[in-house]
Amino acid sequence: MAAPASRSALRALRSATRPARCTIRPISRTCIPRQSLRAFSNSARRRDDASDLSEPGHDVRYTTDLYPELKRDSRFTELKQEHVDFFKKTLEDESAVIDGLSKDASDDLEPFNRDWMKKYRGRTKVVLKPKSVEEVSKVLKYCNDNMLAVVPQGGNSGLVGGSVPVFDEVVINLTRMNKIRSFDDVSGILVIDGGVIMENADNFLKEHGHIYPLDLGAKGSAQVGGNVAANAGGLRFLRYGSLHGNVLGLEAVLPDGTILNDLSKLRKNNTGYDLKQLFIGGEGTIGIITGVSIQCPQRSKAVNVAYFGLESYEKVQKAYKEAKLQLGEILSAFELMDAASQGFVHRKTEMKRPIEGDYPFYCLIETSGSNGEHDNEKLEAFLEHVMGEEIVADGVVAQDGTQIAELWGWREGITEAMGHFGATYKYDLSIPIKDLYKVVEDTRERLESKQLIGDDKVALGVVGFGHMGDGNIHLNIPVRRYDKDVEAAIEPWVYEWIQKKEGSISAEHGLGIAKAKYIGYQRDETMLKLMHQIKQLYDPNGIMMPYKYLSGEGVKEHTGAATS
Ligand code: FAD
Ligand code: MLT
Ligand code: ZN
Repeated sequence: MAAPASRSALRALRSATRPARCTIRPISRTCIPRQSLRAFSNSARRRDDASDLSEPGHDVRYTTDLYPELKRDSRFTELKQEHVDFFKKTLEDESAVIDGLSKDASDDLEPFNRDWMKKYRGRTKVVLKPKSVEEVSKVLKYCNDNMLAVVPQGGNSGLVGGSVPVFDEVVINLTRMNKIRSFDDVSGILVIDGGVIMENADNFLKEHGHIYPLDLGAKGSAQVGGNVAANAGGLRFLRYGSLHGNVLGLEAVLPDGTILNDLSKLRKNNTGYDLKQLFIGGEGTIGIITGVSIQCPQRSKAVNVAYFGLESYEKVQKAYKEAKLQLGEILSAFELMDAASQGFVHRKTEMKRPIEGDYPFYCLIETSGSNGEHDNEKLEAFLEHVMGEEIVADGVVAQDGTQIAELWGWREGITEAMGHFGATYKYDLSIPIKDLYKVVEDTRERLESKQLIGDDKVALGVVGFGHMGDGNIHLNIPVRRYDKDVEAAIEPWVYEWIQKKEGSISAEHGLGIAKAKYIGYQRDETMLKLMHQIKQLYDPNGIMMPYKYLSGEGVKEHTGAATS
């Protein structure tokens, strides 16, 4: 099993942390110890299977085939030529409307109909790409007046099936609203269109010495409006906190076309209810976010990243405690990865592992500060302590930007690596830290006892990774294909487990369609009633996001679940 803490590992860390001995250069044997490729766990080996989702060209099933209990709400109008004509006239630009009604546009519509996880697939016949808030207002009002159901869509990187239609909802995609409106490099306040890709926002900010306060693996696709609508957490949450704090103002369009202009650039503003908070994490249920005013921190000059192997979850907790104690103000990330997660990355990328030896747990820590010398000194003292106390068994520290990116790849690449081998059941959970990994162990035991994991079985393993510093674990079950037996073994069992621990069934990904009916495991009847009153107030016709969280059907089911 786990190798004992070794003196040579300590030397590797020590030498790696001293720039004088290991100057800036691409990862080499001197800087980061490597080992030859190992065989990957048998349980994750691929098997020939015609329905394997990793097969090229595999056809994702329609959501309604996977969940036949879902019925189209007959209150909604079916799309007609006159509707499409209105959209084309209003949005003017040819490329602003993908029209699958007058002609066959299946190929063009497909990317907007299917989600990133290859789990949900809708049947929309029209995608609208407005380029201004006025255009969003006109088309949304028209949809509301004509009872056309709507799904707002950003980069379509969401992980709960919220961003794609279920039936024939109109997709309003924000891609063409991609302008940076203003930036003040004194206050760090950025005002930006909702459709700007977050990586573009961060690159812009980098040129001005600032940083986008959110980072996540899908940064190349996810949009600022999508981040806010999902209230995404990600890799910088530990340092910069929630979008509920960083977003200073919003511009949003209500279903009836009303433009809510609250693009405040004020850090403090206590004049009445803070209505923008309803849209942050609202997942598009009450309106479309077209503009965001966001507080962006100064970009740190000195960034360090270290990657460790640890022998137990107890030691992970000790390392986290020490990191907070010793690195406090410069600690910007503390991420947890289990052996299975790193196995998937290894198998997909075939990259050499950062450290030798097998450990049940790995952690990635990042520090960001303004004084490199001071940060290095602190980091080195911390590393010496955790190695000396045998809290950490082995580890490496990146020496330059390339190595930083490479080490982050072992964390950020997990989701994509698992997806490569099929599909994944994903549970995004907040749990008190002491029990954070227990849910992974219990799930593994449960699936093993039901003989659902293995070489010739549908599940490839049970994987745990996440934002340790935020008390947020991602419990993932990679599978060859979505499978009712696996789903029935996990749901609602996992939600009951979380409820008992007083955790959250959705720490950062939202509810979408995947978790909609389980909201009752987290929110009591009073909370649900108030949420419904808000939904009713903003979206009385219920055109936004039907079949998803807070839609009529979902509520009936989850309320029952909550009280059982
Ligand atoms: P979409 O997926 O298009 O939409 C998400 C939801 O918001 C949907 O309900 C949609 O209807 C709604 N929506 C989108 N745009 C708007 C708008 N302008 N107005 C109103 N509603 C809107 N999430 C995390 O929290 N942390 C992570 O670390 C993280 N890592 C990820 C890594 C990978 C590889 C992937 C694929 C996803 C990850 N995610 C993560 C999930 C996802 O990327 C984020 O939730 C992201 O913020 C979604 O942005 P998007 O523009 O793609 O939104
Ligand atoms: C992450 O932390 O990597 C994301 O939330 C993505 C995921 O959970 O798969
Ligand atoms: Zn995450």
